Amino acid sequence: MTSALPFDTEMLAPDAAGMARAAQLLRTGSVVAFPTETVYGLGADATDPRAVAGIYEAKGRPRFNPLIAHVANLAAAESEGVFADDARRLAEAFWPGPLTLVVPLAATARVCDLARAGLPSIALRVPDHPVAKALLHAVDRPVAAPSANPSGRISPTRAAHVAHDMAGKIAAILDGGATQVGLESTIVACLGGVPRLLRPGGVSREKLEAVLGFPLTDGIPASAAPSAPVAPGMLTSHYAPRARVRLDAVAINPGEAALLFGSVSPGGLDNAVAVRNLSEAGDLREAATNLFSAMRALDETGATGIAVTPVPEHGLGAAITDRLRRAAADHG
Ligand code: TXA
Ligand code: MG
Repeated sequence: MTSALPFDTEMLAPDAAGMARAAQLLRTGSVVAFPTETVYGLGADATDPRAVAGIYEAKGRPRFNPLIAHVANLAAAESEGVFADDARRLAEAFWPGPLTLVVPLAATARVCDLARAGLPSIALRVPDHPVAKALLHAVDRPVAAPSANPSGRISPTRAAHVAHDMAGKIAAILDGGATQVGLESTIVACLGGVPRLLRPGGVSREKLEAVLGFPLTDGIPASAAPSAPVAPGMLTSHYAPRARVRLDAVAINPGEAALLFGSVSPGGLDNAVAVRNLSEAGDLREAATNLFSAMRALDETGATGIAVTPVPEHGLGAAITDRLRRAAADHG
């Protein structure tokens, strides 16, 4: 390390003492990484703009990106956002869980402007992870948290990933083991009219539509397009490993590592720099869980590229292929 880093990052166990320390740090304005069922989040008191600024600083994230506010339950969410029928049905069906709802800001909201990037809406989520739940109860206020990776890089699914990326940049890391879902939450905007799917994720479109009883609309409305970074997770180059990612590979080229799905044996596999299989059984849940850690592991081999065999696009496969496409997008 050549430059002095501002923090001697504490590694906290998810026991009573560790949780109390994490809650205390959050309540006094520090940034603490914590596990959720999707990926690790970089948390700060969402009501305190100085604390939220610490997140942007640690992440190297453009200021204008709005953050998800994590709360303990629907009642807490309702004092931050306005839940019309569709939003309420989705919240009741999928919370706690890997779904983020973007709703109009409530008059009683405590989440600060900086956490919302000044938007009149708010992204809310009730995570389904025992450590996250206990932490949110202890902190007793909304916790703003983007994924705990530097802006544009692969999301962390283990405390060791967070330590690799964030040690020295944040106050503490609460270690809750490997995350279960492995992909970020699905984001749905319920801002009037038909709810819109802003980001595919841990809850599949099929499951959401089954609860709503009608199809979701896609993406960001044209009226919000200009420079409005409505869902920067939608930026094309995101989740980028350093190695070049090549999709739908039928053969592995010299110098490449292989990322497989199912029982496939592409040509050139024997000469691959390294091989990972997202799920030999072809199970999409298992593949989602393994995606980010497999990409990290292959990237760290120093391979010039990562060749990825096809992944089906139904259910969780839609979110997996979305992340793979972003990882494959040219990131200069
Ligand atoms: O699973 C997850 O969602 C993880 C864990 C930590 O909860 N968090 C996460 O946060 O993925 P982040 O910051 O990496 O992605 C949040 C996305 C961004 O694309 C952001 O633009 C969008 O949510 N977002 C936040 N507030 C919004 C709003 N008011 N309207 C539209 N999109 C919003
Ligand atoms: Mg992210």
